[in-house]
Amino acid sequence: MMTTVYISRDSGALSLGAEAVATAVAAEAKKRGQELRLVRNGSRGMYWLEPLVEVSTSKGRVAYGPVPSSDVPSLFDSGFLQGAGHPRYQGVTEEIPYFKNQERLTFARVGVTDPLSLEDYRSLGGYLGLQNALMLSSEQIIKEVIESGLRGRGGAAFPTGIKWKTAFDSPSQQKYVVCNADEGDSGTFSDRMVMEGDPFVLIEGMTIAALAINASHGYIYLRSEYPHAYRTLNQAIERAYAESYLGKDLQGSGKTFHLEVRRGAGAYICGEETALLESLEGKRGMIRYRPPLPAVSGLFGKPTIINNAISLASVPIIFSNGAKFYKDFGMGRSRGTLPFQLSGNIKRGGLVEKAFGLTLRELLYDFGGGSATGRPIRAVQVGGPLGAYLPESQFDTPLDYEAFSGIRALLGHGGAVAFDDTVDMARMARFAMEFCALESCGKCTPCRIGSTRGVEVIDRIIQNRNREANLNLLGDLCDLMLNGSLCGLGGLIPYPVLSAIKHFPGDFGVKDVAELKLP
Ligand SMILES: Cc1cc2nc3c(=O)[nH]c(=O)nc-3n(C[C@H](O)[C@H](O)[C@H](O)COP(=O)(O)O)c2cc1C
Ligand code: SF4
Repeated sequence: MMTTVYISRDSGALSLGAEAVATAVAAEAKKRGQELRLVRNGSRGMYWLEPLVEVSTSKGRVAYGPVPSSDVPSLFDSGFLQGAGHPRYQGVTEEIPYFKNQERLTFARVGVTDPLSLEDYRSLGGYLGLQNALMLSSEQIIKEVIESGLRGRGGAAFPTGIKWKTAFDSPSQQKYVVCNADEGDSGTFSDRMVMEGDPFVLIEGMTIAALAINASHGYIYLRSEYPHAYRTLNQAIERAYAESYLGKDLQGSGKTFHLEVRRGAGAYICGEETALLESLEGKRGMIRYRPPLPAVSGLFGKPTIINNAISLASVPIIFSNGAKFYKDFGMGRSRGTLPFQLSGNIKRGGLVEKAFGLTLRELLYDFGGGSATGRPIRAVQVGGPLGAYLPESQFDTPLDYEAFSGIRALLGHGGAVAFDDTVDMARMARFAMEFCALESCGKCTPCRIGSTRGVEVIDRIIQNRNREANLNLLGDLCDLMLNGSLCGLGGLIPYPVLSAIKHFPGDFGVKDVAELKLP
């Protein structure tokens, strides 16, 4: 019987040497006259085990990792094709606690299937959601999404179904669906993983969104730094067209949906939805004033729904398993699951899809295994570069949108970047403000001027020049940016800056933070 071996084609795995391992496995098999089927799957998201080599056995898939290509001959010698022991042996993949303890809904097929095989996709429930949605009216589709409780995974957590309803209610012959795949947040990679590992789930989600608002065209706005995702998406789109999952007369329904991938040029602000639209129209990425909302007047002035890639990739399971199934995961108003992404100074970095409600501590220690250096984790930035730095005393906060806003923090796109006790939080605050100065689109004064002045003020604080007065000045500036900026870049950058001062005052030479005038 032909044995199947899986080695990931995900860019995270490739950066760790997966291509060389795949080449070595194929060459070694040939040398030994051993027939095998090599499948290049997505990643399971256990990056600390990449390059991961999996072998299909009667017990299920058995994993070996991390495998350097120099270990390939010894893998063959030890009989890995039968799932035998080896120093890199990790047991049955789905029994590895990091994987087993997840709740994979959106990522159910990522790392399991050949990303470009429609047959694989359908064999694991793919396109069931579309099949069901094709039997519903737009109103019924929207109702189902509202009932599922799905909220935008791009950061703002706006209810997806309500956004779709606004676009549906806006009269126009032409409407658009746009997928935000700019994924600019530091420490985030879930959009990339899904696009590389299960592109059809995103295509299916966008098609259902198009049916909901009667849109005939869609665009995936992809960050330029994702060449592998670009190739995979285009190949998947081609195959979807070939089997009538895209184009005219979708599956004989008489409905039309065309889909294209467009690449950004690499600016953080182009992830903000209105700047994204400007960029998609071929202009410089600058924020648009709101109203009108994009759902009323978006791409080329037409009603447009813009959703994050994970929001859209979460739609098919709502239609294959039902809104109630999805809603049963989570806590409070945060329903379903979120693919959390663990990185920075962490032992087991990777992707963990879990229902909302686990604590940050569980994510960092039960999954992440603590810091990579073995030193205590001192701070974690959750939610990208605009997210607050959380100290150990807040690690028991449940990962839930409301719980995080209650401590003036963001869950954002679910990225968590860990730092050990050697981190200097004054430098991190400076880094945050400098990031804003570099990435500001320049449209509003609090952000354009404020961020540059902010860096100068933080420099004076670090140099102990008139420290207390400068800290109060920084507090004033943050207050202005919080309340006076036109978009979330200037409006949220005070979060990391102020949280660094409040939770780690010693790093700023402050004895009693209560004596400062901070917003
Ligand atoms: C400065 C800034 C950058 C953003 N970057 C991204 C991004 O890279 N990806 C994303 O999906 N949303 C990003 N957003 C959020 C989008 O503006 C928008 O809320 C989102 O695409 C809506 O989709 P959702 O409702 O599915 O989350 C950003 C917002 C701001 C203010
Ligand atoms: S806050 Fe910054 S990025 Fe946003 S509109 Fe103002 S200048 Fe542009």
